Amino acid sequence: MQDLHRQKEWQKKMNNIVIEKMTFEDINAVLSLEKSHNIHILSRRILEDEVYAPNHYYIVAKINGKIVGYAGMSFVIDIADLLSIVVDSSYTRQKIASLMLENIFNYCKENGICEMLLEVRASNVVAQNLYKKYNFEEISVRKKYYDNIEDAIIMKKVAF
Ligand SMILES: CC(C)(COP(=O)(O)OP(=O)(O)OC[C@H]1O[C@@H](n2cnc3c(N)ncnc32)[C@H](O)[C@@H]1OP(=O)(O)O)[C@@H](O)C(=O)NCCC(=O)NCCS
Repeated sequence: MQDLHRQKEWQKKMNNIVIEKMTFEDINAVLSLEKSHNIHILSRRILEDEVYAPNHYYIVAKINGKIVGYAGMSFVIDIADLLSIVVDSSYTRQKIASLMLENIFNYCKENGICEMLLEVRASNVVAQNLYKKYNFEEISVRKKYYDNIEDAIIMKKVAF
């Protein structure tokens, strides 16, 4: 009974999650999320330059209008790079990253993109699990890529 209740609550929450294309108005909230995770991949300048740029696709996940996650990728012809994917730490493990990735994969499918690359910190096992779940495979390692200390694992996915 309790399981059923929990399942219904979860379904209700999932129905409230909306994935939208990022806009200029979203940039402040996105940068706050980036900061809260101590991630320095995107900056105001990058986002302002790229949010509407061709060859880029940025999305946000919202619950009741609040931004709880974002993701972005760039692409050249049929090859994409996943630039970043972040979920508000109060909302993790609710499949929000999964929903955003699936949205991105659909975009790839619709736009003839057939390969995606990404790099992830060797210590970031949570993100690696997420990527592996979606059939990304490790293809190489860049030694001391982050701050000349930590290795980057390069992962690749083909076909969406
Ligand atoms: C990585 C991150 C985006 C995952 O977001 P999320 O919404 O919690 O992920 P989901 O709920 O969609 O989980 C999908 C899969 O990811 C993996 N995963 C997510 N959280 C995990 C955890 N705490 N421990 C182990 N695996 C985990 C699991 O494989 C999970 O599938 P499952 O639920 O069927 O086991 C989120 O933890 C985050 O924002 N981390 C900080 C930023 C970051 O490291 N981004 C990636 C590099 S830029």
